[in-house]
Amino acid sequence: MQYRVFVSRRLPQEALDIISAVAEIDLWEGDAPPPRDVIAEKIAAADGMLCLLTDRIDGPLMDGASRLKVVSQMAVGYDNIDVPACTQRGVKVGNTPGVLTETTADLAFALILATARRVVQADNELRGGEWKTWSPLQWTGTDVHGATLGIVGLGRIGYEVARRARGFDMKVLYCNRSAHEGAENDFGAVKVSMEELLAQSDFVSLHCPLTTETRHLFGTEQFKQMKPSAILINTARGPIVNQIELAQALQDGVIAAAGIDVFEAEPVPLNDPLLQVPADRIVVLPHIGSASVKTRTRMAVLAAGNLVAGIQGLPLPHPVN
Ligand code: DGY
Repeated sequence: MQYRVFVSRRLPQEALDIISAVAEIDLWEGDAPPPRDVIAEKIAAADGMLCLLTDRIDGPLMDGASRLKVVSQMAVGYDNIDVPACTQRGVKVGNTPGVLTETTADLAFALILATARRVVQADNELRGGEWKTWSPLQWTGTDVHGATLGIVGLGRIGYEVARRARGFDMKVLYCNRSAHEGAENDFGAVKVSMEELLAQSDFVSLHCPLTTETRHLFGTEQFKQMKPSAILINTARGPIVNQIELAQALQDGVIAAAGIDVFEAEPVPLNDPLLQVPADRIVVLPHIGSASVKTRTRMAVLAAGNLVAGIQGLPLPHPVN
């Protein structure tokens, strides 16, 4: 075959079929991400690479990859890729927007409900034999319906979270660079300053991309501005939150709880301060925002489409650069 590509993890068969119709696939079969030196060696002999958010793609890595025409990321976020370095080398970058929007919004809402209503804690304690009787005071949480939800970053996923919030009669506030007329008209969402959002929200849900501006956007200062009863939800990217400061804020009762799907380092080390926070104050998940069979298949198919377009010199269906 004329083309050769490196695929850095096993994928749904539909995606592999799309790729193998056009190119010879060098597939990394490991469960863990391929080591950096392996990626460098593989892409030196490839026209394209399909990567995941666990693969760091930068200039030095691509220096020996003279054939490489495209880096296709199976995710909507691409903070693991040095896009300017790709552009400089004439390497196209693609991502998978749109298809994971609703699935990720579902998970953000699952975390809102799980943290507010102590779902994981109550399940664990029932299994631990702590259910002695129906009790007026035990496992009481906070209502989601009628509460105020603050959305930081009202893009596609933020919009879908706002749509779900409407079904729960929530008041929706948001912070975003530009106003979102759709969310304002459709759900009565109100654009406010960050200070106002922090002061008024019962739930603060993060949906902005990780950039130099949003790295550690949330830390001690922001937690202090939130209600002591407030709950922070992060399904976006771990480094948007200063994780050590979040752990401290939860331990000190500065905010009430957090629902966290993404971490500063993934997988989160088991001795991380966040995992030492008592389970009644935090629900932690292993970055599963987009993890439904249907959505992961659609993401892989989109990434395959970007890859095969890129190696053939065609415009990517979902270009980043
Ligand atoms: C993305 O696509 O950026 C998600 O984090 C992966 O689910």
